[in-house]
Amino acid sequence: MTTPLPTTFVAGDEGSWIIERIASVSGAALPPAARLDVREGLLGPSGAWVLRGVAGHPRYVQRAEQDALGRIQPPLGRAEATRAALIPIRKSAAWWALAQDERRAILEERSHHIAEGLKYLPAIARRLYQSRELGEPFDFLTWFEYAPEHAEAFEELVLLLRSTEEWTYVEREVDVRLVK
Ligand code: HEM
Repeated sequence: MTTPLPTTFVAGDEGSWIIERIASVSGAALPPAARLDVREGLLGPSGAWVLRGVAGHPRYVQRAEQDALGRIQPPLGRAEATRAALIPIRKSAAWWALAQDERRAILEERSHHIAEGLKYLPAIARRLYQSRELGEPFDFLTWFEYAPEHAEAFEELVLLLRSTEEWTYVEREVDVRLVK
């Protein structure tokens, strides 16, 4: 992705995604709501809650990974992808105190986030939104779309990532699951 894409997730009574469940993995959950609307732009408060982020340039991806992602990652909005997950995540002060090369080493060389994640493409479509610099309650809003037959595989990946060294730096994580 080359153009930054500011986006607001609005939870309330409107939107094409029905919220199936909201569960805390670490830290405080988010208030309940019926639907989720994904809107372009950084919008003000409305509905039950809003989360804002900007999808833009990757920070850690290396050339070979970027090429692999470019070859196999599917677009968002596929007709068959009627399941989605919005997983907002905040990492600890200890993570942000590390230098870029140390963070990359934990994320990929030791936790294999990208290599493992790539195995689940093209079943899972994904987009990463950065929120930290906006002063939001989460550092990242992670968004995934998949067909019902890949729900189990997605669950397996989520559990795998949560067992890694990288995740020892996650201090708040909420799992929001959606259906179209
Ligand atoms: C579906 C397969 C997945 C692939 C291919 C994948 C790939 C990636 C890549 C390439 C990055 C680095 C972006 C950069 O360079 O800035 C990244 C970051 C991230 N991913 Fe994933 N990922 C996957 C699944 C997941 C899942 C299931 C979660 C959450 C449960 C997740 C959470 C994150 C977070 C929070 C970051 C930001 C890490 C940071 O900058 O500290 N990813 N992912």
